Amino acid sequence: MNDKQKKILAVDGVGKYFDKPDKTEKICVLDSIAFDAEDGEIISIVGPSGCGKSTLLNIIGGFEQADQGVVRYEDQSITGPSSERAMVFQSCALFPWLTVRQNISYGLQRKKQNEQEIQKQVTQYIKLVGLNGFDGYYPEQLSGGMQQRAALARALIMRPRILLMDEPFAALDSQSRLAMHRLLLEMWQAFKPTILFVTHEVEEALFLADKIVVMSERPGRVLRRINIPFERPRPASLIGDAAFLQMKNSVQALLFR
Ligand SMILES: Nc1ncnc2c1ncn2[C@@H]1O[C@H](COP(=O)(O)OP(=O)(O)OP(=O)(O)O)[C@@H](O)[C@H]1O
Ligand SMILES: [Mg+2]
Repeated sequence: MNDKQKKILAVDGVGKYFDKPDKTEKICVLDSIAFDAEDGEIISIVGPSGCGKSTLLNIIGGFEQADQGVVRYEDQSITGPSSERAMVFQSCALFPWLTVRQNISYGLQRKKQNEQEIQKQVTQYIKLVGLNGFDGYYPEQLSGGMQQRAALARALIMRPRILLMDEPFAALDSQSRLAMHRLLLEMWQAFKPTILFVTHEVEEALFLADKIVVMSERPGRVLRRINIPFERPRPASLIGDAAFLQMKNSVQALLFR
């Protein structure tokens, strides 16, 4: 981070309650969540299952409303979804009835841009994520890793300022996951979106991020915000370094205390 970077997102005292299914009481899911994101920063969010990580991303995406507090994007309260904040989900959310090319072009077509220009861009993004030759495939004809690459291209082609990623690589084997880390970091280097990355994997969280937000069990609270000092580009061997392992242990100690 440097002095020139500016705050793009402020999560300020966010609280969220959900009704129990029988509506007899409300359950507090998020409690006073607060952190900021600088423009172009990668922030990992880790926390136990059920602590409200997906709910928090949904609020930042504008798909859910906070019951307390506010999320500001460039000093404006978020009131609904916007193409400036794109989501990538754990289970691939491609449209099964559309091909790779149609899935990736979908967002731009809805913006009613010139069709020829759209297809030119789509070709470029298909190439960027290494899906050359798979334009005409339907999602079910792709591997899990290829589906996630298509989902990433579909989100990035909209050139979002903020990329919200909810355990996007959780279903992948470790090899594909490493390949996705490389691809994600290459894309980030090229476009510098701000990324909020939810994961259960502390190692993944530390390897990717500039900052990590550690959440408690439900009701989710912020236990710790930690700056991650490792220089970029980060070699794959970083995960074996003593300083990295020490940080990993201290985050795990927070999670499993
Ligand atoms: N629409 C809803 N109605 C009622 N309760 C909900 C709703 N959505 C989420 N919850 C509850 O909110 C809590 C947090 O859910 P959320 O999906 O945000 O957790 P999470 O941290 O993403 O978990 P995981 O790591 O397992 O994905 C859970 O107890 C869940 O039951
Ligand atoms: Mg979740």
